[in-house]
Amino acid sequence: MNNTSNWLVHDHHKYDAALDECEMAADVGEWKNAKRLFQNFVTDLKLHMQMEDEVLYPLFVEENGDPEGIIAHLSEEHDYLARLVHDLAYIIKANDFDHFLDSLEPLHKAMNQHNEHEEKVFMNMANQSILMRRDEIMERLHAVQNKQGRRSWDY
Ligand SMILES: [Fe+2]
Ligand SMILES: [Fe+2]
Repeated sequence: MNNTSNWLVHDHHKYDAALDECEMAADVGEWKNAKRLFQNFVTDLKLHMQMEDEVLYPLFVEENGDPEGIIAHLSEEHDYLARLVHDLAYIIKANDFDHFLDSLEPLHKAMNQHNEHEEKVFMNMANQSILMRRDEIMERLHAVQNKQGRRSWDY
C-alpha cells in the first residue's frame, strides 16, 4: 500500500496464488481439499469483482468517461470469468474430476490476463482527483461487502 495507487489493485496476487494452490491439490488427487480451495477462491473473487463492478468501474467512467470502451471491455472480461467459474462449478457438482484441472487452467490464464489488463487501466486512469478521494472510495469498497451483488452467479 505504499505505492500511490496500489490500493486500487488490491489482492490480485492473492487470486493467482489461490488457484496455484488449488491446482496443486487437484494434481495430487486431493479432491476434497481442491474443492474447498476453489470454493474459498470463488467467494473471494466474487467480492473482488463486485467491488470493481459496482464501485471502481463506475468511478472511472464518472471521472474519465469511457470513450474507447476500455471499462466496458474489463466488464466483459468479468462476464467471461464468471462463465468459466460456472463451468467449473458444474464439473465439481458432477464430480467430474478428470475435467477439473483442464478447466481450471483456462480460468487461471484468463484471470491473470484480466488482472494484468486491469492493473494497466487503473494505473493510467488513476488521476489526482481519484487518488485524493481514497478514503471515500475505500469506504464505498468496504460497504459492498454487506450488499447483495448485482451479478448473478450459479455458484
Ligand atoms: Fe477485475
Ligand atoms: Fe481486480
